Amino acid sequence: MNDRDVLDPSALDRIDLADPALHHAHDLREVWRHLRDEAPVYRHERAGGEGFWVITRYDDVAAVYKDGETFTSERGNVLDTLLSGGDSAAGRMLAVTDGPRHAALRAVLGKPFSPRSLEVVVDSVRRGTQQLLREAVERGSCDFAADVAAHIPLAAICDLLGVPPADRQHIIDLTSTALSSADAPATPEATWASRNDLLLYFSELAESRRAKPYDDVVSLLVTKEVDGRPLSHEEIIFNCYSIIMGGHETTRFAMIGGVEALVEHPEQWEALRGGDKVSAAAVDEVLRWTTPALHSGRTATEDVFLGGEFIEAGDVVTVWNASANRDERVFSDPGRFDLARTPNKHLTFAYGPHFCIGAYLARAEIGALLEGLRTMVAEIEFTGPRRRIFSNFLSGLSTAPVKLTPAPGFGG
Ligand code: HEM
Repeated sequence: MNDRDVLDPSALDRIDLADPALHHAHDLREVWRHLRDEAPVYRHERAGGEGFWVITRYDDVAAVYKDGETFTSERGNVLDTLLSGGDSAAGRMLAVTDGPRHAALRAVLGKPFSPRSLEVVVDSVRRGTQQLLREAVERGSCDFAADVAAHIPLAAICDLLGVPPADRQHIIDLTSTALSSADAPATPEATWASRNDLLLYFSELAESRRAKPYDDVVSLLVTKEVDGRPLSHEEIIFNCYSIIMGGHETTRFAMIGGVEALVEHPEQWEALRGGDKVSAAAVDEVLRWTTPALHSGRTATEDVFLGGEFIEAGDVVTVWNASANRDERVFSDPGRFDLARTPNKHLTFAYGPHFCIGAYLARAEIGALLEGLRTMVAEIEFTGPRRRIFSNFLSGLSTAPVKLTPAPGFGG
């Protein structure tokens, strides 16, 4: 079942791919297919503002990701900032920093995201997920988005950053307005206010860790040097912000989308339940299928030919993970949800120098959810309308009312 209209490619001249309402209301799979086949490097002119390049084939998307010199992230890495004059965190926040500074920052920030360092966090993810699912199954029905999926990634990030439990709901509320929008397009004022509140929150947390460091990422940022100098207060705050924005909603939408896919593909649900564990392939197929980050953005630093098209220095270039992950040149039968799919080199976490730093954690969270569902739930049904977010960057459901039937032996 598809809750959105599949948009006909003939509408391409009339749509604005930067419009959050477009992605909210329409399934663009046929538009992407058309672009991959007919115009893989496409100049998207917009009546209401600056145009940009739209890259839709897997190989071209990977080539842009790989070449951070020609396609910089330092003027923003998502459409919203690229089209509004740049990112104020450029050169200071990991995702919008390139070159040697990026490598040095990543060397420090990467450590707490290694499988070894994450052991305790992942353990707590597994326990927390079991607990949340147990409560949801006992209640019988719930909003899977708000009651289960929202809590898992946020708890993990808060564990990593050292955010006290009492502040977590506040952080959930701020992130959902700051990045995507649950039920209506957020006003720019509301978005900016939430972003500022988040920055302020991390500013205070950093101050308190400076006075008394703990074993968490904020303490690491306030005590470590990068390139022989300590990080500035702004750099610390921007990078906390980047971790919460990078890891919370993305993973949450992958989880909700995974549940939706399992409901819509009962044979895959049966295969998951029938197996004796959750395979890595199953987790990766959920990631490919859901592709929570629709696009990434770059700016060309020099004139360059890509796919036979001439891109000028200064042009905004967008790569669409949502399209690359369904490219029939790379994936066999890409429109099929197949938990046993191998190989599955999806671009959900990007590729190259900015490859997602939280990929291991995100995979562990999705794995924990699938494991909990597989062992505790016999049947999942939607009991009311699902609501899709308004965003040109993220894709997912903000509301997903479900009934969960316990598996035989549950609670026994
Ligand atoms: C980078 C997607 C989970 C933190 C990225 C990028 C993508 C992405 C596409 C590259 C952006 C670009 O090239 O401009 C996702 C998805 C996730 C996820 C789909 C979940 C399903 C996480 C988690 C964290 C995280 C759990 C942290 C807790 C980051 C950071 C970067 C990043 C800090 C910047 C890396 C760099 O620039 O070197 N992510 N992410 N992400 N992600 Fe994730």
